[in-house]
Amino acid sequence: MNDQNNNVLEFKDVWKIYQMGDEKINALAGVNLNIRDGSFTSIMGPSGSGKSTLLHVGGILDMPTRGNLLLNGKDTSTLSGKEQATFRRNEIGFVFQRFNLMPQLSALENVLLPMIKPDLEKAKELLDKMGLEGKHNKRPSQLSGGEQQRVSIARALINNPSLILADEPTGELDTKNAEVIMGILQDLNKKEGVTIIIVTHNPLAAEFTDEIIEMRDGNII
Ligand SMILES: Nc1ncnc2c1ncn2[C@@H]1O[C@H](COP(=O)(O)OP(=O)(O)OP(=O)(O)O)[C@@H](O)[C@H]1O
Ligand SMILES: [Mg+2]
Repeated sequence: MNDQNNNVLEFKDVWKIYQMGDEKINALAGVNLNIRDGSFTSIMGPSGSGKSTLLHVGGILDMPTRGNLLLNGKDTSTLSGKEQATFRRNEIGFVFQRFNLMPQLSALENVLLPMIKPDLEKAKELLDKMGLEGKHNKRPSQLSGGEQQRVSIARALINNPSLILADEPTGELDTKNAEVIMGILQDLNKKEGVTIIIVTHNPLAAEFTDEIIEMRDGNII
């Protein structure tokens, strides 16, 4: 993922405004932010400060109300819905704050879901790497929160994304497992050059990253 200035993502005066009855909520209030190719960034800040919204817009799961998001130098508002979907599937690995696993599918089937040509061995290897040996055939409801989180991380990694956006990837994990997951992300960043942004409340997780961004009231401080 390269362009002349080496930015994978560029937020240019990005606003995300939710209308709730008569009230307007500025979830993002004019964010300007560049994410360099190969960088490893954490986003911190209080609840409601716009962290998840920023990640959703960065992963083109949501479009800005105003302003522009450039992906590899290309304005995402010029991409068709199909181009956006292809990009999300092939280039972006997204870890959702609430996991978003399919309840009727096993762990293994959830990990295979984003693959056009299912590679069973790769999915199993990835689940094992996440410490889920022996749990491949369990459904999300049969797994702990931390185990579901690790399934959702495996699903995000399955297509070898060049950009990983992870919303509190260690939120449900104990210190030991959090360090394992952050170590895996750090290796992907340092050895394979994957660009990574995580949202976290955990200073230990943030320590693995190279840059910490603080958010308040829909903007970066
Ligand atoms: N779909 C929505 N409709 C209306 N308001 C929303 C919506 N999504 C988010 N908001 C509001 O936008 C603001 C930012 O929400 P966001 O989820 O980005 O916060 P956050 O920093 O991720 O918080 P947390 O740490 O609790 O996950 C909040 O005030 C929230 O209530
Ligand atoms: Mg959030």
